[in-house]
Amino acid sequence: MTSRPLFKTLPGADAPVEIWFNDQPLRVPGGRSVAAALLAAGVSRFRATPVSGAPRAPFCMMGACFECLVEIDGVPSRQSCMVTVRDGMRIHSQEGARDLPPFDQTDATLENAHGR
Ligand code: FES
Repeated sequence: MTSRPLFKTLPGADAPVEIWFNDQPLRVPGGRSVAAALLAAGVSRFRATPVSGAPRAPFCMMGACFECLVEIDGVPSRQSCMVTVRDGMRIHSQEGARDLPPFDQTDATLENAHGR
């Protein structure tokens, strides 16, 4: 008896796309998250922890654990499991802590309803 897959991929949904990971070109399956595409391409280190520098990779694949943070097209701290992979994306592993954006005094009153 042959087993049939539980789920079927839509025709053409997984057409390969070209991306860059840490300045290396990669051909990955499309139609899925950045995390799934990178894992399918054999990438196992997505970021390093800010304190010890320990390697991290996706764990939950549903936006809960934040282990999959990467920089996508210059934007740091993106959850790669929640972003659909697109042709031409430039992705970098996230090393350590991110810098906060510069503090703008004009936005200070917007911080909370009490002005604190
Ligand atoms: S793998 Fe858990 S938030 Fe992305």
